[in-house]
Amino acid sequence: MHSVDIELVEMTLDVMKYAIHRITNDAPELGAPRKEEELKEQVGETITPSGIGGENAFNLFRDVLVKATVPIDHPRHLAFVPAAPTRAAIMFDLVTSASSIHGAYWMEGAGGIFCENEAMRWLVSLTGMPEGAFGVFTSGGSAANLSAMVTAREYWRRTKDNQNKKGCLITSVGAHSSIKAMAKVIDADVLLVETDDLMTAEALQEKIDSLDKSTMERVFAVVATGGTTNAGIVDDLNGISKICKKLKLWFHVDAAYGGGALAADSVRHLFNGIEKANSITIDPHKWLFSPYDCGAIIYRDPELAKAAHSQEGSYLDIFKDPGAQGFNPSDYQIQLTRRLRGLPLWFSLAMHGTDKYKWAVERGIELANLAGELISSRPELELIRPPGLSCVLFRRKSWSADDYKNWTYTNHRAGIALVTPSKWKTKEGFETVARFCFINPDTTEEDIQVILDTME
Ligand SMILES: Cc1ncc(COP(=O)(O)O)c(C=O)c1O
Repeated sequence: MHSVDIELVEMTLDVMKYAIHRITNDAPELGAPRKEEELKEQVGETITPSGIGGENAFNLFRDVLVKATVPIDHPRHLAFVPAAPTRAAIMFDLVTSASSIHGAYWMEGAGGIFCENEAMRWLVSLTGMPEGAFGVFTSGGSAANLSAMVTAREYWRRTKDNQNKKGCLITSVGAHSSIKAMAKVIDADVLLVETDDLMTAEALQEKIDSLDKSTMERVFAVVATGGTTNAGIVDDLNGISKICKKLKLWFHVDAAYGGGALAADSVRHLFNGIEKANSITIDPHKWLFSPYDCGAIIYRDPELAKAAHSQEGSYLDIFKDPGAQGFNPSDYQIQLTRRLRGLPLWFSLAMHGTDKYKWAVERGIELANLAGELISSRPELELIRPPGLSCVLFRRKSWSADDYKNWTYTNHRAGIALVTPSKWKTKEGFETVARFCFINPDTTEEDIQVILDTME
């Protein structure tokens, strides 16, 4: 299994051929899920005592299984938050795996962690946070948000009176589902500012004013969103930061999706105030063209994160020895053993330069604005609100929720596009609407028109 033989050589050729073919294919087939029983029937037993052979297993994956997946970088995949990793980043993901580096501690991963830190410095520079701010790459936005919440709560619990209290954080309805999910993990309560739209400082203040003293004493953090997942809305970060400062609350900005837009001059002003955050989540696997998985958490004061996350154990003592000193990513987030998941971003950034990243992010915003114009020019369609970052919400007049659902399935089955409905809060309740999210700079005006034509 670990020896180099002819089977390995053949498998290597198969894998490289497949990888080259896949990353040079800019219109991959839009696969769709199939029932597990159907897949089982087609591939049979794959795990057996003597193995089915590399060639056989690879053929099953290439000819059957991968076709039951959706390529996230398809130019007409505009659902959820799609992705479009650069070819350089994907290739370097292969290199990252081939290099077998443990990314938790400098002692083992120094050269790779150095690369990650170079990329991280650029990310931090986009935020405008002061000298000393720094971060680490995580498995994604959820893990980054969780790492920040743990740090915030541990910091709050340094005050003796807070040690036996259940913590509580305030966020808005528009915040991503992972905020509530991660609050559950740390057993914190979540209070919601009732808006799907931009969370203003006034709305936050009103929420705070409505709390009784004992609840307010449990609040340790406010989570604002830098680009809501649904509509690309950036909260009033400046105003919210002032309230947090006044009340000594941890200010976290979840820019998992929108963080890439910090690179875009056209919308950078929307994020004013982000530099005052105590922590920021940015997912390079969303709008900074990294392959899955790559999130990032940045702290204003990384020492607070270290105090919260650094692990102790006799087997880990060596990492604290002066002879092994260096930056240890595991000290700053929830995970110990970790892949060097920032390496593909580093390589792609180093290869292409930051200007191309700026351009590619601006292209997503341009596509959203273009889609907005095309939608407005069609009598059967109507924008719900102006495009936010690279998200567009719109309605097909007279369609019911079922019509939107059927539209999704019909387009997907026909291999035209993956576009899914969402909801938008109105005075009457929640309206089902159509939604586009643009990430892939290779999406064209024609792609948008083709999809809009399916709504006629
Ligand atoms: C704003 C926001 N925060 C957090 C997340 C969760 O990120 P992940 O799926 O990488 O855990 C998402 C995912 O879409 C998001 O849009």
